[in-house]
Amino acid sequence: MILLTGGAGYIGLHTAAVLIGAGHEVVLFDNFSNSKPLGVERLEAIAGRPVPCVQGDVRSRQDMDGLFDQHSISAVVHFAGLKAVGESAEQPLRYYDNNVTGTLVLLEAMIRAEVRRIVFSSSACVYGDPDFSPVPESAALRPANTYGRTKLMVEEILRDLHIAAPDWSIALLRYFNPVGAHPSGLIGEDPNGIPNNLMPFVTQVAVGRRPELRVFGGDYPTPDGTGVRDYIHVMDLAEGHRAALDWTLCDPREVLAANLGTGCGYSVLDLVKAFERASGQAIPHRIVARRAGDVAANWADPSFAGQRLGWTAQRTLDDMCRDAWNWQRQNPRGFA
Ligand code: NAD
Ligand code: UFG
Repeated sequence: MILLTGGAGYIGLHTAAVLIGAGHEVVLFDNFSNSKPLGVERLEAIAGRPVPCVQGDVRSRQDMDGLFDQHSISAVVHFAGLKAVGESAEQPLRYYDNNVTGTLVLLEAMIRAEVRRIVFSSSACVYGDPDFSPVPESAALRPANTYGRTKLMVEEILRDLHIAAPDWSIALLRYFNPVGAHPSGLIGEDPNGIPNNLMPFVTQVAVGRRPELRVFGGDYPTPDGTGVRDYIHVMDLAEGHRAALDWTLCDPREVLAANLGTGCGYSVLDLVKAFERASGQAIPHRIVARRAGDVAANWADPSFAGQRLGWTAQRTLDDMCRDAWNWQRQNPRGFA
């Protein structure tokens, strides 16, 4: 059985759908601080069967030991954590506690249960403002915010653990910008409050929940002046987790860090135009000042994941927009 911490969240649910489709048994573990039980019910509708989900906190030794006692777990995919960059600056101790302490408590429970395979949700944030794109895994690691530092700290903790316990198999997956939804439209991204990220903001404008998109900065040194990112379909990302998990299950006994991205950079305006094409909806938008902390451009060199995990992203920006719209149109208020 595969444990997915934070499994009721956006990426966790999509990964669970892919893993179940591939024949894996999964158990989700979540404190529902940023997700809802309805998401798990929707996953069960996709899977066509019940999916075990345990409510608890990765920072609780009691919760973690209980989980490993009750289930025969062979590997962990560790999604649980907080992910809002701005909030991480305002509440640094909460971020270190959830993301770093939470991982330490999980790893100690794994040691007690003799589980030595983990796939960790890292982020392109570990690169900060890269010197160039496409960004390879060998690029300098200098996160520009608290959230990114929590991710880099966990990467380093896992590398130190591997030095002490070389029989562990550890995949560090550095995601670029996950967007889109399951093609069924049953599960998708459902941020709390005003979305920080571009795609959920665009889809909420499309369903009339927000009047217009503010495009942060039109004077970047990019082809159209707006920020360029590597948007990756969440189903491709989920398949990347399946590949990484299968790699750990072969017991390679090493630490591998891999970018999960498409290798393509698209600007904010590229995404808006693609979304308008996919949805047939006009997205009113206005260029405003740059957002503090944003970089002009970053996109992945994903070739290492291709070589080592046999995984490459398959879906286009049009696919991402179509599926994001399908989800938001069917669920204008998300899982509410
Ligand atoms: P999400 O918030 O939808 O999912 C995270 C889940 O973890 C939520 O269901 C939340 O309730 C749960 N959780 C948080 N703290 C917990 C705790 N202490 N104990 C138990 N459960 C807890 O976010 P997501 O987009 O699915 O991201 C999953 C992981 O991927 C996170 O670690 C995030 O930092 C990382 N990541 C996300 C992105 C992105 O853009 N979505 C990019 C890079 C990395
Ligand atoms: N943007 C807008 N208007 C908005 C929201 C975003 O113009 O309302 C622009 C941003 O300025 C940026 C682009 O859209 O140019 C993408 O912004 P996002 O907030 O969607 O994504 P980021 O690249 O800033 O960050 C995201 C996640 C991080 C993750 C990182 C990895 O929020 O958690 O991708 O590269 F680590």
